[in-house]
Amino acid sequence: MEKRIFNFSAGPCTLPEEVMLEAQEDFYSYKGQGLSVMEMSHRSKTYDEIITSAEKDIRTLLNISDEYEVLFLQGGATLQFSMVPLNLMPPANKADYIVTGAWAKKSVVEAKRVGEVNIAATSADTNFNYIPKEYNLTPDASYVHYTSNNTIFGTEFKSEPEVGNVPLVCDASSNILCRPIDVNKYGLIYAGAQKNMGPAGCALVVVKKSLLERSPEDLHTYMNYNIHAKNASMYNTPATYTIYIMGLVYKWLLKNGGLKAMEEVNEAKAKLLYDAIDNSGGYYKGASAVEDRSLMNVTFNLPSEELEKKFIAEAGAKDFSGLKGHRSVGGVRASIYNAFPTKGVEALVEFMSTFKTNN
Ligand SMILES: Cc1ncc(COP(=O)(O)O)c(C=O)c1O
Repeated sequence: MEKRIFNFSAGPCTLPEEVMLEAQEDFYSYKGQGLSVMEMSHRSKTYDEIITSAEKDIRTLLNISDEYEVLFLQGGATLQFSMVPLNLMPPANKADYIVTGAWAKKSVVEAKRVGEVNIAATSADTNFNYIPKEYNLTPDASYVHYTSNNTIFGTEFKSEPEVGNVPLVCDASSNILCRPIDVNKYGLIYAGAQKNMGPAGCALVVVKKSLLERSPEDLHTYMNYNIHAKNASMYNTPATYTIYIMGLVYKWLLKNGGLKAMEEVNEAKAKLLYDAIDNSGGYYKGASAVEDRSLMNVTFNLPSEELEKKFIAEAGAKDFSGLKGHRSVGGVRASIYNAFPTKGVEALVEFMSTFKTNN
């Protein structure tokens, strides 16, 4: 099959076409070496160059200083729900959580196994369709945890919550690298790879070195950030192929102007879709508060569930896949991550207009 569909999936999701083609070229024999990256020892010189350059490039993209460790860990973002409290909550064993969606709720479940959790703010009252603007923070909390983009509900923080001197911890799984951020504002940032960075199988963790003193000595080995930092993410076999693709994605971003340029593209793509929703005379209704709308996951409803089903079915027949909203909220969700092409958004906007006229 030669053609590519428009894949609006929330993750794993569309990856840059150039990256896919480069990986295809090197799949069978990496740079003519006679073996695939998949088949290569993680201790080999070639693989060392791959992971070292991935780290160098993510440091450049996010402007990460030497005060931070960069780790590539397995277990996805979900393992970070546990690793964060296990490493950073002691010795005070209390943390603040801002709960803006299903993933934040899951992170709270794990944090409660370690210590006291204060819900500093939540938008659960309206099924997470907005971002709370005020927080009830604990001054001596070990950290404040928040989710920068809520993949399921289509809301995002437009800037970091103000938390004073308490370390800020962010689950940035679904909007990392969508725009520049100031890493110095954070104690720790983590993100699963499978949206803006590559295939599933790896979480990127950027953690301030000074926080690593908190990890208890008796923590299980894999759970301890210090072990991974001391071993440059090579304590055990890392997700070698995923990290290789992440490295290609980082190079693709650098080549295309970095995160500032990416932000401009993302703003323009999201505007196309939100304008189509807002100019539909109420036929399409945005599911989240206008000021908190996500650049990555555009959620909306049609006048009835029946029409939503019809919309998704007809869209599928036109090779727009992955538009069904998450099972917990329904409706339509168009995930338009960094690598999703503008022409796909334009095609969806046109389809929305035709569908409205016909229905
Ligand atoms: C914001 C957010 N956090 C965490 C996760 C869980 O990630 P993983 O499947 O890598 O554990 C997801 C997955 O979609 C997510 O969107």
